[in-house]
Amino acid sequence: MKSFEEIKKILICGGGLMGKNIAFVMTANPNYQVTVYDLYPTDVEAGIRKSTAQLVEGGYVKEEELVERLSRIYFTTNMDDPAIADADLVIEAVFEDMGVKQETFAKLEARMREDAYFCTNSSVMSPSEISSKLTHRERFVGTHFWNPGHLIPLVEVIKTDATADGVAETVMEVLSSVGKKPCLCKKDVPGFIANRLQHALWREAISIVEHGIADAATVDTAIKNSFGLRLPQLSALENSDLVGTQLTWNIHNYVLPHIEDSHEPSPLLKKMLDEGKMGFKSGEGFYKWTQEEIDKCNADLNAYLIKMLYQ
Ligand SMILES: NC(=O)c1ccc[n+]([C@@H]2O[C@H](COP(=O)([O-])OP(=O)(O)OC[C@H]3O[C@@H](n4cnc5c(N)ncnc54)[C@H](O)[C@@H]3O)[C@@H](O)[C@H]2O)c1
Repeated sequence: MKSFEEIKKILICGGGLMGKNIAFVMTANPNYQVTVYDLYPTDVEAGIRKSTAQLVEGGYVKEEELVERLSRIYFTTNMDDPAIADADLVIEAVFEDMGVKQETFAKLEARMREDAYFCTNSSVMSPSEISSKLTHRERFVGTHFWNPGHLIPLVEVIKTDATADGVAETVMEVLSSVGKKPCLCKKDVPGFIANRLQHALWREAISIVEHGIADAATVDTAIKNSFGLRLPQLSALENSDLVGTQLTWNIHNYVLPHIEDSHEPSPLLKKMLDEGKMGFKSGEGFYKWTQEEIDKCNADLNAYLIKMLYQ
């Protein structure tokens, strides 16, 4: 199996929103040559320039650096391109469809090196199932990047039921070398680590609205102005130690029986779906959104993340 130092040629399979941003991220290691493969022609440079515009405008990425990094990204629509056969590690970011992903990896395995590493960026699908039809399942892990992929530091690295010792660790070294914060998920469970945590919070947030305890804006205000504000500095389990195990136990003993524990999506979500309230897509979800507000929300999020990460 290749060591971290021997990995130089990275393949990104699927050049959509995530694939383009991951390609850019991988060029942060000056030793990496990146190939992007997609079924359809796509302007990878234009996509990367669009998503990194605020970084360049703010001077966090210099134009010369961007040009140099883009020069190490090569795009192909040809599955039989030698750059695919020669890649040391592939990160797959094609459509979120089990059949498409399994078929894509079968084609990749037939063409790629004997010692190549296989990674899938699936948000929710089991990497064990995605890799189930491969011959060399031992070199397969999940690498779950978060959107926007060029900014959010976390990448969850998920071991499958067949990942060999050392594979996840080598992939984590690769991700660290491009400035990401890889976290090891030792078991292939739905939601991995961070989405389980995130959706435990969303379930309760939606339940509070559903039961008329507070409206959506109040819930979001409460989150942003309390624990949401301190989370980047003091996270859940650090906070438990800070307040003390006894207090955590006492609070859980009192409050857990009253917290939402449904194993089904909220009826409120179903009602919103039936009413066509699809969020940004339809201009209404928990809130009403104009196109200007949607654009501002996206730009403000990027600006906030850049401030948190670069200043
Ligand atoms: N969008 C997000 O917020 C997000 C976050 C984390 C993970 N992901 C995951 O990343 C993956 C890609 O998501 P996205 O948002 O970039 O989707 P996307 O639709 O923007 O891009 C998918 C790309 O894959 C290409 N493609 C489809 N089938 C292919 C094939 N057989 N071979 C090669 N290319 C193929 C498409 O042409 C398209 O360019 C999905 O598995 C998704 O779950 C998405």
